[in-house]
Amino acid sequence: MSNDGVNAGRRRFLVAATSVVGAAGAVGAAVPFVGSWFPSAKAKAAGAAVKVNVSKVEPGQQMVAEWRGQPVFIVRRTEEILGNLTKLEPQLADVDSQASVQPTYVDPKTRSIKPEVLLLVGICTHLGCSPAFRPEVAPADLGAEWVGGYFCPCHGSRYDLAGRVYKAQPAPLNLPVPPHMYESDDVIIIGQDQEQA
Ligand code: FES
Repeated sequence: MSNDGVNAGRRRFLVAATSVVGAAGAVGAAVPFVGSWFPSAKAKAAGAAVKVNVSKVEPGQQMVAEWRGQPVFIVRRTEEILGNLTKLEPQLADVDSQASVQPTYVDPKTRSIKPEVLLLVGICTHLGCSPAFRPEVAPADLGAEWVGGYFCPCHGSRYDLAGRVYKAQPAPLNLPVPPHMYESDDVIIIGQDQEQA
């Protein structure tokens, strides 16, 4: 074997080794760059749609789901509750949710896709406390006129069981309705609209 042959072999080895290091370096440099363009798995999970089975929510009761780190109230409304929504209208600040946040495909008064199932982001529009679900009629602390709704413990804002705020409350707007769609009769996807499905 000649010296040339040895040198040629060593050169091939060096070239090959350099290529591998170069490739590894390129991958190492690419990761943070790609990471800055695409959200992390944690960020994706935080913003992801959430699937909720509402079959166990009894009439007149509420369950609380979590979406984007926020509570989402899910209420199964009775005929009586739906009837009260109309009676309360003169006392409400934004009856048709003109100024409030809700998807275009929910009814402006019941604020839902199906009248009996209400979804609301459970964060008071005043300073962000979580309003209490108070479905009972005329409890001592809320008065004889109370027909069920939400009461914010922080500064006393009152909402009806469509999340619509009463007039002259600290809270300026109705509770937001999150984007949502039905995957089946009992399964709701929060954070996804029918149009995107
Ligand atoms: S945060 Fe709800 S009334 Fe102030």
